[in-house]
Amino acid sequence: MTTDFKNLDGSEKYADPYTTLEYEAYRQTYELPDWKDGERLLKRTPPRDYGTDRLADKHIYFDAGVMEREYDKIWSKVWLLAGHMNDLPRQNCFMKFDVGYESFLIVRGEGDQLHAMYNSCRHRGTELVEQDFGSTKKFVCPFHKWEFASDGSLLKIQDRETFRAEALCHDLNLKKVRVEAWRGWIFISMDTEAEPLEEFLGAEFMDSVASYDFEGAVRIRDVVQEWPANWKVAHEAFNEGYHVQATHPQLIPANNAYHCVHNLYGNGHALSIYQNMLPSPHVMNDIPSDGISDEQKIFLREAGIKEEDFPKNRDDVPMAVIKGKRAKTGGIDYARFTNSQLIDSWGIGLFPCTEGFLLPEGYFLQSWHPHPTDPEKCIYKTQVYAVTGAGELPSYMAVEGVDLSGKTVLPRTHAEKGDIDIVGPVIGQDVVLIPRVQRRMRSRGYDGAILSEQEIRIRDFYDEYNRLMNGPDRQ
Ligand code: FES
Ligand SMILES: [Fe+2]
Repeated sequence: MTTDFKNLDGSEKYADPYTTLEYEAYRQTYELPDWKDGERLLKRTPPRDYGTDRLADKHIYFDAGVMEREYDKIWSKVWLLAGHMNDLPRQNCFMKFDVGYESFLIVRGEGDQLHAMYNSCRHRGTELVEQDFGSTKKFVCPFHKWEFASDGSLLKIQDRETFRAEALCHDLNLKKVRVEAWRGWIFISMDTEAEPLEEFLGAEFMDSVASYDFEGAVRIRDVVQEWPANWKVAHEAFNEGYHVQATHPQLIPANNAYHCVHNLYGNGHALSIYQNMLPSPHVMNDIPSDGISDEQKIFLREAGIKEEDFPKNRDDVPMAVIKGKRAKTGGIDYARFTNSQLIDSWGIGLFPCTEGFLLPEGYFLQSWHPHPTDPEKCIYKTQVYAVTGAGELPSYMAVEGVDLSGKTVLPRTHAEKGDIDIVGPVIGQDVVLIPRVQRRMRSRGYDGAILSEQEIRIRDFYDEYNRLMNGPDRQ
């Protein structure tokens, strides 16, 4: 008798109930090896034991009331990474920064002073600016032509004499929000009472990224796309390496996400060190050590090492890349970086919604903001910043032939929904998977997340999230 039975993986045998993997038990105390971090060995720093509870509040992923409360308790309270000084290369340059139903104009004013204000006309609320970047001396409202200077102050009311004086006895300048720059990055906060930006970032976080040349960064890639998932569902997939072996299997021959080192800082910020160059323990035994993989060859080439000088043994690749980078002259000053920073992806997590992979040559940033109205959608933003003098950029950043001078302002690409090509092959896999998570959030068959220690940052995120959501109003 023939059968058309097939397993989901296409094979025709009945699947084994378990596939056993022979790797060492996960050690929570794993630290970067000495040779990797030299004088500055980083320790894994969970500040406290978050326990083992299931995350049972799954309505936070689809409840419109929760979405509204997040505006009151989170989005309007914290500092948000909005851009970089290089996005505003000259006086009177502006950028638009959207967060859910809010929109802001950030302007480089006289003497390089920054101004940030709501992108909303004081007459009847119209959005003043639709474009993402530009340069102007004044903003003119398209509805009735009220004019505002680039610092937000009111310049002109059309037919002013037709308003009774009492109707105009209000503050008619564009409403300002807090704005601060830190090492080239621009942050805004809607909360006039917010702590200073450096206090929000915290000394541990700032110290951990001190080597990187943030000031010299130039934006070379900028894509925005709507995703059919709550912003937290999407973000959670980017602060754990646990899914890499299943969702991105092509990465694990040269990426040990299993031993990702998570450093948990205050205020929900974190640093996750994703260890590149060597295989994940899941496939360690499948890859012969007396040879090097194609994935490792990419890293070697990017470090400027000639084919004939490639090491013969898999385990010698990381040190060969480190030496190759340190031997480079001109361009980036690799002496500022630890060995780990030369080869690993240093993943910074900035509460509430930004993740960045840092390499000496460039920064790969991603943010997930709420959709203006729908809790089951979010707005994904990905940007690549290259460090001036970087020469060759890592291949996964997928940017070639771009202007690194910082003299031109790169337009933002608003990608079609579901276009997985535009986000690249790795993020494309997440774009396919994440809506599938969202689709089952309401199911009676799902009672909330059960988390491994590899997913400790999700617990850390919710520790801060719940602290703010349940905390007092700061008005
Ligand atoms: S709404 Fe802007 S001028 Fe009327
Ligand atoms: Fe992923």
